Amino acid sequence: RPALPSLVGQPLIVGAGLAGVMTALSTTRPCVLLCAGRLDEIRPPHAASWLAQGGLAAAVGVDDTPALHAADTLAAGAGLCDPDIVRRVTDDGPAVVGRLAGLGVAWDRNPDGSLQRGLEAAHARRRIVHAGEDATGAVIMRALAARVRRTPRITVIEHAHARDLVLHDGAVAGLRAVIAGTQVTMPATAIVLATGGVGGLFADTTNPAGATGSGLAIAARAGAVLGNMEFVQFHPTALSAGADGQRLCLVSEAVRGEGATLIDETGARFTEELATRDTVSRAVWRHMMAGHTVYLDARKAIGAAFTQHFPAISALCAAHGIDPLTQPIPVRPAAHYHMGGVVVDPAGRTGVPGLWASGEVACTGLHGANRLASNSLLEAVSFGTWIGQALDGHDRPVRPVPGLAAPGLQWTQPPVGLRRLMSRYAGVIRSGAELEAGLAQVLAQPESDARLVCAAIMHAALLRTESRGGHFRSDYPHVAPTAHASRLTLADIAHLS
Ligand code: SIN
Repeated sequence: RPALPSLVGQPLIVGAGLAGVMTALSTTRPCVLLCAGRLDEIRPPHAASWLAQGGLAAAVGVDDTPALHAADTLAAGAGLCDPDIVRRVTDDGPAVVGRLAGLGVAWDRNPDGSLQRGLEAAHARRRIVHAGEDATGAVIMRALAARVRRTPRITVIEHAHARDLVLHDGAVAGLRAVIAGTQVTMPATAIVLATGGVGGLFADTTNPAGATGSGLAIAARAGAVLGNMEFVQFHPTALSAGADGQRLCLVSEAVRGEGATLIDETGARFTEELATRDTVSRAVWRHMMAGHTVYLDARKAIGAAFTQHFPAISALCAAHGIDPLTQPIPVRPAAHYHMGGVVVDPAGRTGVPGLWASGEVACTGLHGANRLASNSLLEAVSFGTWIGQALDGHDRPVRPVPGLAAPGLQWTQPPVGLRRLMSRYAGVIRSGAELEAGLAQVLAQPESDARLVCAAIMHAALLRTESRGGHFRSDYPHVAPTAHASRLTLADIAHLS
């Protein structure tokens, strides 16, 4: 790879999931794309985008409009969405589908050439466009990674972990990172965090192990504001199989969209399958806590068509000895998506000059208290495009930045004990007493990015004395009359210890 000095001054994009890759492809400037692993390998996945199954939500049907899509997004978001952002992103949906097609994404189409459209919970229309049936994320990422490889102005640096920003007069001046085990300091006046979510902080998660909120910690230490940190979305149907502590495979909501039902060991249904994701997750969780085992039953509704419609899920099930054609699929809720993040303005800018946040690490106002299914790929492409374009106009002179005086922290997987704490005390259903107990135990852990982010989630969850969207408190089960977004800074979190 080129020597680092030749890259001085180029925008640095930290994270090579959909948001980061779209940002890199959308600026016309030479830029650097830092990947935690390899850019174009799904196994092991370093970006959750590779694992997306259902697809990307966009109002592309003749029976649909961006306004209907916006209304569903606002309803799911339970009062905490920014209506202007919702309108802007949902308006962009059909163009996003076209933009990705232009970049080489082969959407699944009907024989007449129209886009196939799936249904997911809380969408009033079929509007989930997909590729490779249920391998949408992998198809999109493979196409975009190939495009990045063919774009000489993008320098890809693999096995790179961002550690901290270097600031000068409060503005971005560089990045400290560990690249293939070596500490480096890279001067830059424009940095985009696209580091993904926080599922890796929970014992049960559909996210890759590296989704531990490192970008949230980096941004908070630089003075950025974190918003709505308490809002973690739990997917109701992760495949309940595999070794303890391993990532759980997703069984897409699209399976329920095609009619599969949730049943228990007696064969009885116990919930409305296509209610919002938080509602279904709580119903599954409560049923499990009452001693039941929960299954997703596709035998009657989908039957033999399952393998054709859901080849990736079929393969995942087969790897665990489950045949969805003849057996119900064991499922349980798992941390899936973080609605909270680094607070950004409509242009994706954080409060730190020169710092943007893109994708799941950002809190844009699109998702509010509860993300509508398949809106995350859409957001990653819309904001990735807009931020990439904004980078074109941000060409500031760089200044030398001091190297590291001492070795910085290496990235390490959060200890399994911490992940269990999060699932137990900050899971699908929380209470003040449990959050207090969990927070005390988190704060007793050695200092790390994971500790900071876990403390922020638990603290924000304690402060929100109501239940709304993905955040449910058994001691405050009602929605407060007024919706307010929550905001935290590093000082708020430091104050706890
Ligand atoms: C799914 O396919 O169920 C996940 C879709 C999403 O999380 O948006």
